[in-house]
Amino acid sequence: MKRAQKTKIKSPSARLRYPLTKSISLIGLMGSGKTTVGLRLARKLGLDFVDSDAEIELAADHTVNEIFEKYGEEDFRTGERKVITRLISDTPTVLGTGGGAFMDPATRKRLREKTVTVWLKADIDHLVERTSRRDTRPLLRAGNPEEILRKLAKKRYPVYGQAAITVETGAGPHEKVVNDIIWKLNQYLAKERKKQTQDAPKDNRSS
Ligand code: S3P
Repeated sequence: MKRAQKTKIKSPSARLRYPLTKSISLIGLMGSGKTTVGLRLARKLGLDFVDSDAEIELAADHTVNEIFEKYGEEDFRTGERKVITRLISDTPTVLGTGGGAFMDPATRKRLREKTVTVWLKADIDHLVERTSRRDTRPLLRAGNPEEILRKLAKKRYPVYGQAAITVETGAGPHEKVVNDIIWKLNQYLAKERKKQTQDAPKDNRSS
């Protein structure tokens, strides 16, 4: 069973230009590197990393494969919704979500409102290669993994596109993906800050 990963790292979040008030959630298809990149991103920002699949496994005391086999996908999605709601805490963390989580309307709404959503967008060849390393994904057991991933991409990519930030991932080093996320996160935070300043009530007193 995948173990829950909660990594407390004490280094300060020096690489962000503005304070982070929300968690960062990583979304994307299976094999896009949400866990690997998420752990590195968390380490770099001095935040905890949590993985929704690992937390579901822990709560259910079953692997994701077992949950799908025994109870079906619908029950898995119900558990996923509950676990993600619990994991979105007031303290910013990096949250790695399962590939289908953002497709659930309630989960998507919650993630978009309460976290900075980051889509790790990868090309299918890369996903096929990465997912072939482990047999832990029930959806890919149902047929040809490449065809399944292509179908899922067609359906999901327009929805993943609703994420606040999109970062391309591929065969390159994870470090580059992490740096790209931080770069775009700084742009996002700068924009949010500007919006807040504009929305703040004007001080009409004359000096
Ligand atoms: C799923 C992705 C998996 C896991 C489950 C369903 C999906 O997570 O949640 O097998 O629907 O795409 P990863 O994206 O971490 O592999």
